[in-house]
Amino acid sequence: MTVRLLDEARIPPRYRRCEIESFVTYPNEKLLGAVRLAKRFAEEFPSIGKGLCLIGPPGIGKTHLAVAVLRRVILTRGARGLFYDTRDLLRVIRSTYNPTVKTAEMDVLRPVMEADLLVLDDLGSEKTSEWVEETMNLIVNTRYNERRHTIFTSNYDDTPDDSDPDSLKARIGFRIHSRLHEMCEFLEFDGADFRHLPPNGGVDDLLAMWKMKPNRRTLPARTTSKPVRAQLKAPTPGKADLGWTGGKAGS
Ligand SMILES: Nc1ncnc2c1ncn2[C@@H]1O[C@H](COP(=O)(O)OP(=O)(O)OP(=O)(O)O)[C@@H](O)[C@H]1O
Ligand SMILES: [Mg+2]
Repeated sequence: MTVRLLDEARIPPRYRRCEIESFVTYPNEKLLGAVRLAKRFAEEFPSIGKGLCLIGPPGIGKTHLAVAVLRRVILTRGARGLFYDTRDLLRVIRSTYNPTVKTAEMDVLRPVMEADLLVLDDLGSEKTSEWVEETMNLIVNTRYNERRHTIFTSNYDDTPDDSDPDSLKARIGFRIHSRLHEMCEFLEFDGADFRHLPPNGGVDDLLAMWKMKPNRRTLPARTTSKPVRAQLKAPTPGKADLGWTGGKAGS
């Protein structure tokens, strides 16, 4: 049964062996704090109030931790878990687009909205558009209303500066951003990029690499040159918050 649940969780092969126990730590307070909370989430699931939002630069283990928690709750609680890279999910939904029949879209969306635990990886990496925002709103809002747990990961800092086009809020839109804060514990951390660790490297190397980072909170280059639409849009009074009609994909 749990083997089937693990198979159905769509965990990418690279991460199929991720465990909280195999997550290497070093003296890095925020990273240790994130691991501690991830562990607690896995232990207390499903009677834990909030999901998790893991934020930080590339290679520090956000996806690793998220998958480790997902695997743990599937294995110990028999939870229906699901992993999706955000861009992948939108691509799959888009590929099912049919102007007259919505069933194919719902076939993809239903498990995403109904999973006991959903990992939505790399939030904010998707190119924004009205369709993207509506689709993401539908997913996040449905899970929010149903009090289902979600773990998000993102490279985009949750800076309070609204005018920063690389802030999480600008990347994902103010509506999802607001729900995210109610749904999740935010774990922002920095660390060494594990992908640059030499084959025989260890804890000392990780610590040294982290300390040598020129700017300990660097973000990836922007993926859009246009202003982010979500940031510019004000809520329309009287409009249903999430009137997703399965509008034209990619519009
Ligand atoms: N602390 C760690 N202990 C063991 N393995 C780690 C650790 N951190 C990262 N890794 C491994 O390094 C690789 C990169 O980590 P991961 O993909 O989780 O990074 P990320 O923070 O999600 O990066 P990105 O922002 O680019 O998605 C993975 O193979 C992961 O298993
Ligand atoms: Mg990742």
